[in-house]
Amino acid sequence: MGEPLYIQDVGPRDGLQMHSPFIPTEGKLRLAAALVEAGLQRIELSSFVSPRAVPQMADAAQLFGALSNGDAKRDDVEYMALVVNQKGYDFALAAGARAVTAVIACTETLSQRNSRQSLADATDYVCRVLEQAQQDGVKTRVTLGVAWICPFEGKVPEDRIEALVGRFLAVGVDEIGLADTIGHATPLEVGRLCERIGVMAGMDRLAVHLHDTLSFGLANAGAAISAGVRMIDAAVGGLGGCPFAPGSAGNLATEDLVLMAHKMGFETGVSMGALMGAVELAEELVGRPLGGRIRPWWTAQQSK
Ligand code: COA
Ligand code: ZN
Repeated sequence: MGEPLYIQDVGPRDGLQMHSPFIPTEGKLRLAAALVEAGLQRIELSSFVSPRAVPQMADAAQLFGALSNGDAKRDDVEYMALVVNQKGYDFALAAGARAVTAVIACTETLSQRNSRQSLADATDYVCRVLEQAQQDGVKTRVTLGVAWICPFEGKVPEDRIEALVGRFLAVGVDEIGLADTIGHATPLEVGRLCERIGVMAGMDRLAVHLHDTLSFGLANAGAAISAGVRMIDAAVGGLGGCPFAPGSAGNLATEDLVLMAHKMGFETGVSMGALMGAVELAEELVGRPLGGRIRPWWTAQQSK
């Protein structure tokens, strides 16, 4: 058995949040089930945000109701709820979420645009949520959005990321995620920040969240892996994009990451064949062709 690489599929949340029209809850449940069937053990299921700001996520409570408490609940699968403010955390808890990702956008401009909070207020909300989650027995990840590059402010200083991570570690957090929200970071930058934050937080706490805008997604995943990171976010079919960060395109495709991880000798628990079935379902739901860069090669292999 190879060393484990833990992949979180963020397709149902990051992947679908920009999509319109609304995908019925039943379709989102089918997608989550297909990902579980493929072997994904961690799924970012939805976000508890204003339904006026992100209408596609308006059924977050129904999704968590069905999968966290309902008959479909499985002990071996973790469903993450994304929040951007205290209210979102309260709603997530009420809906039955047991694991929460609190997002902070690491520049003033994006913090205001994404959650209408200053960076200082956003830092405070994250700390409050972390404190409360410890009392509630809820698992936490803090994801630092635009950890490398902001569409409005450009390069984000590593010292700022380090200072923020220091605050969250002091309060107590299970995982730290570094997000390349618009997919403009390069492998050298990704490797360097992962090494630096890994020393502070412990590599086993560190995750990266990558987008493939400039097609650097896999290279950046490779750099993170080389730095010692073993938790990586990706989205089935390369779905995705953030409505508040101009230029943000699809996530790194889960199938690309899984194939690369397997060829590197890692164990992901994911079946490529079943995952490609989930890609087809995602295509059906969004009504457009999807698929990471390995898909043509994969399809050709199957017909040999
Ligand atoms: N979930 C649902 N509704 C929420 C909410 C949440 N987490 N937080 C606030 N709201 C509602 C309020 O109840 C209020 O509704 P009302 O006008 O019917 O009373 C409305 O949103 C505005 O609330 P306010 O506290 O004034 O927030 P705001 O106007 O400053 O908006 C956000 C801030 C965070 C609610 C909004 O910008 C948002 O949800 N953004 C989405 C961010 C996102 O999903 N980004 C992508 C992932 S990183
Ligand atoms: Zn993202």
